[in-house]
Amino acid sequence: MLWQASGESRTRFDIGVGAFSKVQNILGQISSGKRVMIISQRSVTEHWLPEVSEVFDTGKHEIVDINVPEGEECKSVDWLMKIWRRLQEHHFDRHDTLVAIGGGAVTDLAGFAAATYLRGINLVLVPTTLLAQVDAAIGGKTGINLPAGKNLAGSFYFPQAAIVDPQFLSTLTKEQFNSGMAEIIKYALLEKTIADETEYKPGPRPLLEILESNMEEIMHADPDKSELLAGIITSSVRMKLAVVGKDTKEGNLRRCLNLGHTLGHGIEKAMDYSLPHGNAVSIGMVFACEVAVREKMLDRKSAERVTKLLTKAHLPTEIPVDIDKRVIVEAMTQDKKRQGNVIKFVLPNKKLGSVDYSYEVKLDNLEDLL
Ligand SMILES: NC(=O)c1ccc[n+]([C@@H]2O[C@H](COP(=O)([O-])OP(=O)(O)OC[C@H]3O[C@@H](n4cnc5c(N)ncnc54)[C@H](O)[C@@H]3O)[C@@H](O)[C@H]2O)c1
Repeated sequence: MLWQASGESRTRFDIGVGAFSKVQNILGQISSGKRVMIISQRSVTEHWLPEVSEVFDTGKHEIVDINVPEGEECKSVDWLMKIWRRLQEHHFDRHDTLVAIGGGAVTDLAGFAAATYLRGINLVLVPTTLLAQVDAAIGGKTGINLPAGKNLAGSFYFPQAAIVDPQFLSTLTKEQFNSGMAEIIKYALLEKTIADETEYKPGPRPLLEILESNMEEIMHADPDKSELLAGIITSSVRMKLAVVGKDTKEGNLRRCLNLGHTLGHGIEKAMDYSLPHGNAVSIGMVFACEVAVREKMLDRKSAERVTKLLTKAHLPTEIPVDIDKRVIVEAMTQDKKRQGNVIKFVLPNKKLGSVDYSYEVKLDNLEDLL
């Protein structure tokens, strides 16, 4: 079990196969109130309803279920309003609890609903995609999309508990699994910087080496049996917690987590969000390595090592040919890390595992590389 403290809030993390079966214990420990609202999606409940019913149908709480639409569609003002309304109809008070069981879209939406209803009710996150387990449900960012763009309304709000159970990953599509693997590879490329600048203690072998020598096994493993997968998920969560613990609101160090994301966001936008987030980040990480090679911060061999690892994880490494590159350039120009004609980039620095997260690159130089 891990704990994260952030301001006045404290989050309990239970990570590992079988962690979900401890839900009642965890609810007991966080004083979850009389009522529990479970927010999920059909593609999760169609696989996991028996397990979810078993742990919640104990008669200890009044349970209210709400199934939201698949994917990004649920991250809307409409669905936020529907959740608020149901909470009100069932007389939820500040001691009651909202439980999100799903991918990053569900945990983002439920987190924002919990943050805003009565200025904050109890929240328990049960991320069920690899991306949500290592990234979206960790770190306190919540939010919904607005017509003008993604994640434009949101808040920082920490759950009382997060349950990261790899057994859920066994029903993910390959594409969704691979997308989460891109974020794990990202942590491997940040591990030394995180160890140097936070209290994170790396294991005896760098995550990068573990991934390089075991990627085949990880990609074919049964998620509910693989200790290796559980181990790399735990390392990734510990790294993110260490970074967020040092810099919650992305004033400085937290920016390192954007490795691969500046170009990645541009690609996602240009493809109207049809490409999984991790796939876009994968292309973005290769691009960041290319920029680092051009800026003489990284040797060509190291850049090739990264491309090879991403390829082993069945992730794309090149910008799709039919994409409108002007949209990517436009998105990068609008990036919040831009100042005038330069943009602050996260670039691998000297050795894989280390990054410079404030490196200023001229926009014209980036355009040449696309
Ligand atoms: N808050 C943050 O810090 C943060 C960070 C990264 C991404 N995000 C957000 O996360 C979202 C992307 O998350 P995602 O990649 O998890 O996608 P997602 O939440 O859209 O899930 C993808 C699909 O997988 C299904 N699914 C979830 N768990 C499943 C399971 N165990 N078995 C079968 N199907 C399952 C979902 O129902 C959905 O249809 C985006 O909205 C993004 O903005 C947030």
